[in-house]
Amino acid sequence: MMRPIIAPSLLSADFSRLGEEIEAVERAGAQWLHLDVMDGHFVPNLTFGPPVIKALRRWSQLPFDCHLMIEPCDAFIPAFAEAGADIITIHAEATPHLDRSLQLIRSLGKKAGVALNPSTPESAIGYVLDRIDLVLVMSVNPGFGGQSFIPSAVDKIGRLHALIGERPIDIEVDGGITAETAPLVCAAGANVLVAGSAIFRGGTGEAYGENIATIRESIAVDGTSVNRAVA
Ligand code: DX5
Ligand code: ZN
Repeated sequence: MMRPIIAPSLLSADFSRLGEEIEAVERAGAQWLHLDVMDGHFVPNLTFGPPVIKALRRWSQLPFDCHLMIEPCDAFIPAFAEAGADIITIHAEATPHLDRSLQLIRSLGKKAGVALNPSTPESAIGYVLDRIDLVLVMSVNPGFGGQSFIPSAVDKIGRLHALIGERPIDIEVDGGITAETAPLVCAAGANVLVAGSAIFRGGTGEAYGENIATIRESIAVDGTSVNRAVA
């Protein structure tokens, strides 16, 4: 089993110093940067949009993994592409024409992802498998950092893993990821881990490095946990 990609969610970073936070978490071992865009309509919270992402782009060469929690989404997709997104993930629940929205993302030269809320079945991507590069399994109800992991996500990841087969589609999981839950989702087939509060806890670059290492060390090479005894 491959080591998962670690994608810190900037939602838990210091919003007054986002550029420096990106530098710090990149030095700490981040491989992607996960950017949570919230509209106060699809989810009960507001964050930031394309101008902020554009301003952050010069702070890092890492892939910008943009998680759009906005409904409808199509009208804003070109702005996120222009702002410097590498991966644009939209919610299956937030667009009436998922196939069309995904075609739009790819037409702009970006990787296309679909996010599934905890109550949305894996079959939501059944007819768009050839149009996606990533599926994002929400293991909390989107809107806030620091929530508890919803265990049914593990079963959904396993089903998605089977559905995807040999296709080159990343399985990313987002919400409540810690050293306790990371081994469970990786064993089920996840290969990208988003974590906000578990990585930005401590508020210093040194802490971020330790937090990322703790998550990594929780996952053995075969995907099983090496620290269940302390969980
Ligand atoms: C929630 C966001 C997540 C969030 C995860 O709507 O999509 O990316 O930042 O936060 P933690 O890791 O604290 O659950
Ligand atoms: Zn997210």
